[in-house]
Amino acid sequence: MTAFARRNGVLHAESVSLIDLAARFGTPCWVYSRAALEASLAEFERELAGLDALVCYAVKANSNLAVLDVFARRGAGFDIVSGGELRRALAAGADPRRIVFSGVGKTAAEMELALAADILCFNVESAPELDRLSAVAGRLGKTAPISLRVNPDVDAKTHPYISTGLKENKFGVAYEEALALYRHAASLPNLTISGIDCHIGSQLLDPAPFAAALDKILTLVDQLAANGIVLHHIDLGGGLGIRYRDEDAPTVQAYLQPMLQKLRDRHLQVLLEPGRRLVGNAGLLLTRVEYLKPGEVKNFAIVDAAMNDLARPALYGSWHDIVPVVAPQGATRPWEIVGPVCESGDFLGHGRDLALATGDLLAIMSAGAYGMAMSSNYNSRPRAAEVMVDGADVHLVRRRETAEELYALEQRLP
Ligand code: LLP
Repeated sequence: MTAFARRNGVLHAESVSLIDLAARFGTPCWVYSRAALEASLAEFERELAGLDALVCYAVKANSNLAVLDVFARRGAGFDIVSGGELRRALAAGADPRRIVFSGVGKTAAEMELALAADILCFNVESAPELDRLSAVAGRLGKTAPISLRVNPDVDAKTHPYISTGLKENKFGVAYEEALALYRHAASLPNLTISGIDCHIGSQLLDPAPFAAALDKILTLVDQLAANGIVLHHIDLGGGLGIRYRDEDAPTVQAYLQPMLQKLRDRHLQVLLEPGRRLVGNAGLLLTRVEYLKPGEVKNFAIVDAAMNDLARPALYGSWHDIVPVVAPQGATRPWEIVGPVCESGDFLGHGRDLALATGDLLAIMSAGAYGMAMSSNYNSRPRAAEVMVDGADVHLVRRRETAEELYALEQRLP
């Protein structure tokens, strides 16, 4: 799926020129392709066809209502981690019976909200959370469906900040304690044990750790059955990586088939929580070169997007391809692509060989996941607009913030 391709030398989103989008909506601006979103979901749908399975898109990766809407219309479910994400998903038309609630710190108020909405399952991450959920559900006269997020202690071989399946991580319950905790759950009122859940990390490029984690989880499933605890579903989490630069990201088939083999004849509904894989390469960040500052040691290209928009390079040292919107001419030199924010860590790319002129438009690629979702207003920079392209149609799905909106909730002293 090439949602972003050149036509007559100009980069387009589907049928729409990025020059036109910049003229219409200004820069910086997030651009999403509906066709690319649908194509990435379709990849999962193909592998899961005929199975009792549900893709629960991890809302945190990109929570724009229009993005959620695209997935909800195709029958996807959602993985949420806060009351805010629950409200968003419902506002986007999500079926609450297809929502799972993950996260280590669910508040009583968030539990109430989710119980009132009748969500599919709570992915519980600790013993005190079980106790709290039981109490909250009791108060509301409800029964909370639960699964335990079990930490299989496998090395996902990804960036330490986004690796979550190791013992040293704050996530999930320890593998060795899971059985006892399930028994505890079974003894609590107002809970019903529905499944088991596991998520080992993000941007994984090797299917092997997923399969290794599943083996451990299935051993546990059997132990649970021997203890009279029969599960209805297994949630394999998210984490499948994408190509940012030259990574060999596995196909969805290569990722899923080994696991689906292991699950055959198990009579377990399969849930998945992909985030990045569904949206990452379906979005880009459009920016304009404001100033060029060639120097003795480094050449700086100061663009109008910054770390407050796309935090990943500053935060994880992540690499995003940066391409000129108009096919480049002339000699290239290595540029530091940096934003206007007052931090040396405010960079989008280091040493990129480009032929740049002031006013040029650049596209920062693979920015659909953890882009806008992690943006901030640092330096009092209004959040950028978000646009969804659908063939030749263009929808402004979030208008640019205004400066006044940034301090609208604040007050001067009386
Ligand atoms: N399920 C759970 C419980 C998660 O914690 C996450 C991501 C996902 C699913 C979705 O993972 P994905 O399929 O997107 O890999 N901000 C970082 C990524 C943090 C991921 C956090 N958890 C980044 O920009 O790379």
